[in-house]
Amino acid sequence: MNYKAQRGTFDILPEEEGIWNKVQQTCFETARLFGYRYIETPIFEESGLFERTVGEDTDIVEKEMYSFDDKGGDNISLRPENTAGVCRAFIENGLHNTTLPSRLFYYGPMFRYERPQSGRYRQFHQFGIECIGDDSPDVDFEVIKIAWDILSNLNFNNVLLNVNSLGDSKDRFIYTEELKKYFSKYINDLPKVDKLRFERSPLRILDSKEDITIKISEEAPKTLDFISSESLGHHENLILNLEELRSHDKKFNYKINNRLVRGLDYYNKTVFEYTSDSLGPQGVLLGGGRYDPLIKILGGQDTPAVGFAMGIERVVNELKKNIDVEKNYVDAVIIVTDENLRIESVQIANNLRNSNIRTIIAPKKSIKAQMRFANNINSKSAVFIGKNELENQKLSVKLLQTKSEQFEIDIDDMNQLKKILNS
Ligand code: HAM
Repeated sequence: MNYKAQRGTFDILPEEEGIWNKVQQTCFETARLFGYRYIETPIFEESGLFERTVGEDTDIVEKEMYSFDDKGGDNISLRPENTAGVCRAFIENGLHNTTLPSRLFYYGPMFRYERPQSGRYRQFHQFGIECIGDDSPDVDFEVIKIAWDILSNLNFNNVLLNVNSLGDSKDRFIYTEELKKYFSKYINDLPKVDKLRFERSPLRILDSKEDITIKISEEAPKTLDFISSESLGHHENLILNLEELRSHDKKFNYKINNRLVRGLDYYNKTVFEYTSDSLGPQGVLLGGGRYDPLIKILGGQDTPAVGFAMGIERVVNELKKNIDVEKNYVDAVIIVTDENLRIESVQIANNLRNSNIRTIIAPKKSIKAQMRFANNINSKSAVFIGKNELENQKLSVKLLQTKSEQFEIDIDDMNQLKKILNS
């Protein structure tokens, strides 16, 4: 076969379903415990939505969007992220008229035309949280805590929360000027990509992955030295909450990371990321922050908001290292010992399934081959159906995973088998 999955995309195979479900369920259950509700928005939107919010000078909009003109001539893009879509939906559906804040969560595929490497894909999944309509640092802490609860419920060790504050748009302007002054001294040492950033969006130099830029950035001015007293108060309030959490949860740890600016334009005040040691350079499991100006930029009422999105592949890849893939997906394989009883077997299979016993009828082959099939797919049991069994209204059952025990159950009492399989 010549067709292959596109670069940076992959298939989720049946044996991985268990891990994916576990991650999704943990995210959903944790979000619901904090009173968050599910929202789903379309996978494609008008391109302008992302240009206005994520920012035209960002890597995402500049080079990573899957954009095209549709047959009606509209320029649309596959969503590279979902904060913009959720805010669009919030305004369009009049959610600002409901009791605020709106506590929302989402899950689904995102698309970025990035250079594929470990932990970086062109189609990937995000679970995200958006809390819209509250400007208090307490909700910054709330979303950070949701993320922490998810990671600790999934038994993540060695994760570190990085936090910073970008201040408001005025602070950011002043800070950007300071940064320009600083980096202009090193302009000839900066690699090409960062020279370009210097021209177009100097803040992003701090986000550089180039060794030389990282070195130069070490002495760069810090946002926290330039933000207003209001923004600083907000930041300090959050830090108090983080200190409190660290004092009673020994696994939780955080650091103030002066270089953390995030790669999207809509942030103000708090920004944060959780990183994991063991993931290497793609170690960011999730990222987020406050984005108070965004809803107004989109034409809605001035509504503060904060949220994060988690990269599900990165979380799943970590878990795969420690959790065995689910091998056992069938409870019973029906071995039909008399070919004339195929129709009766279908009925019995249905009765088993009605008792929540996962059942497959073995392929039409010799009894030996049917048994081989049951063993090969790791079925918990083989259930034999033949003339004798039907006459006696009993089914012979052989357990395949334990000591090959064999016994009989009444044909009209599948719960007997259920109990044995669960014991
Ligand atoms: P982001 O930092 O662009 O933020 O993405 C969030 C997370 O998605 C990353 O930390 C990473 O785990 C995962 N991710 C991003 N790109 C890829 C990729 N190419 N392959 C695999 N995983 C990836 C946002 O998207 C914001 N919308 C987050 C947010 C929500 N801020 C406020 N609310």
